[in-house]
Amino acid sequence: MSDFAANLLGWFRHSGRHDLPWQRPRTPYRVWISEVMLQQTQVVTVIPFFERFMARFPDIHALAATPLDEVLHYWTGLGYYSRARNLHAAACLIRDRHRGHLPASIAELRELPGIGRSTAAAILALAYDQRAAILDGNVKRVLSRYFAIQDWPGGAVEKRLWRLAEELLPEQEIAAYTQAIMDLGALVCTRRRPQCGICPVAGDCQALQAGIQADLPAPRPRRPLPLRHTRMLLLQDASGRILLEQRPPTGVWGGLWSLPECDPGAELNAWIAERFALVSRGYEFGRSFHHGFSHFRLEIEPVHAVVQPAPDRIRDAVNLYWYRPNGDNRRIGLPGPVRDLIENRFPYSEDHE
Ligand code: ADE
Repeated sequence: MSDFAANLLGWFRHSGRHDLPWQRPRTPYRVWISEVMLQQTQVVTVIPFFERFMARFPDIHALAATPLDEVLHYWTGLGYYSRARNLHAAACLIRDRHRGHLPASIAELRELPGIGRSTAAAILALAYDQRAAILDGNVKRVLSRYFAIQDWPGGAVEKRLWRLAEELLPEQEIAAYTQAIMDLGALVCTRRRPQCGICPVAGDCQALQAGIQADLPAPRPRRPLPLRHTRMLLLQDASGRILLEQRPPTGVWGGLWSLPECDPGAELNAWIAERFALVSRGYEFGRSFHHGFSHFRLEIEPVHAVVQPAPDRIRDAVNLYWYRPNGDNRRIGLPGPVRDLIENRFPYSEDHE
């Protein structure tokens, strides 16, 4: 076994994480769901979402049998909603093609939506103790430092990191090793202020020897994200409910229930009347705020209007829902900032009551 693996495994026994919710019990289903949640989200944020998700969807059959809307409801606030859509689609495929069992080969796992090379390897290693190397953000950081790799770990460098990750794998104890290298990245070899004094592999760490550990890995070369603008309408009826509209199934916030958005250039009352057959008695702007997506930033300008149905007009309402702020609602998925806007941010005037 490489010194790296031996030292890491020794450290893991006393200093690794052994009671994360997905480790008890560590079933393939629980590993899969947790790995997908952890793809873009930190452990502390994931834990309560994971617990609620498991209570509602204890197995693949429960997940596959539930309408996507309700799955998205349990994802509300976690972000990157395509993960939830992919999980649901994959659960249906696993039910139909694999008799409800998560497959135990890299090829079959990677055929499922939302499972890439590292996630497939994590499932194999953690759930089935099979020899497979992972390369998530934590591991990239550990290896970039251990081997003093100075370039941004994407593209050709990523290929090299995959090879190194595979070379370091021990023959046995793959589940422990895999959790150990993630824990090392999360607890010791942290992005800021790595704790080299307690690191089990510091003796051979080339970045530490060169004194450049704080500079690695090199950041992704980035252009500044473009800023887009939108106006979100909080259309409130006489009983205080807010109108939500389901977004198209693909794209940003696909399938989620969101506030209607209108072009900042449009004349509001006419737009509301035309689009929703609602009459607005006037409107009021709220304070704008920004929300970050992976590829752009969005400036959201909220507008509140009290509305009533237009006489003589009926609108087909399958993709509309009147949401009760802080009340009982259908289980639907809302984007985090939309829920926040409705529940906390907007100072509704009380005059509609
Ligand atoms: N990040 C990704 N997978 C993880 C796991 N199993 N435990 C902790 N952090 C993780």
